[in-house]
Amino acid sequence: MIQITNLYKTFNRGKANEVNAVNGVDLTIDSGEFVVIVGSNGSGKTTLLNLISGSLTPSSGTISIDDSDVTRLADYQRSKWIARVFQNPLSGTASELSILDNFRLAAIRTRAKGLNIGVTDTFKRDVKEKVSLLGMNLENKLEQPMGTLSGGQRQALTLLMSVIDECKILLLDEPTAALDPKSADIVIKIADKLTTEFKLTTILITHNLKDAYNYGTRLIQMGEGRIIKDIDTKQKKHLKQNDLFEWFG
Ligand SMILES: Nc1ncnc2c1ncn2[C@@H]1O[C@H](COP(=O)(O)OP(=O)(O)O)[C@@H](O)[C@H]1O
Ligand SMILES: [Mg+2]
Repeated sequence: MIQITNLYKTFNRGKANEVNAVNGVDLTIDSGEFVVIVGSNGSGKTTLLNLISGSLTPSSGTISIDDSDVTRLADYQRSKWIARVFQNPLSGTASELSILDNFRLAAIRTRAKGLNIGVTDTFKRDVKEKVSLLGMNLENKLEQPMGTLSGGQRQALTLLMSVIDECKILLLDEPTAALDPKSADIVIKIADKLTTEFKLTTILITHNLKDAYNYGTRLIQMGEGRIIKDIDTKQKKHLKQNDLFEWFG
C-alpha cells in the first residue's frame, strides 16, 4: 500500500518562477491496484511519480509504503519496493549486450552484493520462461543483441526486467510515448499482464485516453498539482470513453 498525505512540492520557492508542482495531494493506493494518471502538461504527474520514487524530496507531507515512512529515503533505498520505466525504450537496456546478458545485469543491479549470478542453466531457463510471457517470440532469441530489436520489443523487455525481482510497485511515466502505435499497444498490454502476473501495484501516466479508458482499475486526473478526479473500479465500469474526452475538451 502506498499512502500519500498532504504532499507538496514547490520549485523555485520565493522566485518569480515559483511553481507548486504538487499542491496538496492525499492519495492511498492499495496493493494490486493499477492506477492510471492523466492530466494536461505541467499538471504535476511526473513530479508526483518522482516524489514516490524518491528522485525528488517533498517540500512537505509524507509518503509511506507498506507502513514504512519513506519520505526521507533516497531513491536507491526505495528500489527494493519500486521499479521504474521511462519513455525512452533505449534508456533501459544495453544495445551491444544480448537479451540474456541484459537480464543478468538487471539481476546484479538489484541483488545483494556478493551473490553470484552467472549465466547458469537455471538462470537461463528462468529468463526463457519469463520472456515467453511476453508472447513476442523472443524466448528463442536470448543470444541476440538488444540493439537488433525494435523499440517495442526493447520496451517490453525493459518492463519485464524491471519487475523480475522482488519489487512491488511499478511506476510508468508515459512508457509508450516514443513508440509507434502498434508497439505502444503491445507494451501497454504487457504492463497490464505483468501487473496481474506479479501482483504489482502499478501507476501509469499516459496521454493516451484510450489506454486510460481500457486499462487500469482506477483513473486519476491531475490538474495544477492536485487530484481533480479519482474514479474507482466500480465507477470506471460505467464511464464512457466520451466522458473522458470531455474532461479534456
Ligand atoms: N525540476 C524542476 N524545476 C522547476 N520546475 C519544475 C521542475 N520539474 C517540474 N517543474 C514544473 O512543475 C510543473 C509540473 O511539472 P510535471 O510534474 O513535469 O508535469 P507533468 O508531468 O504533468 O507534465 C510544471 O510547471 C513544470 O514546469
Ligand atoms: Mg510528465
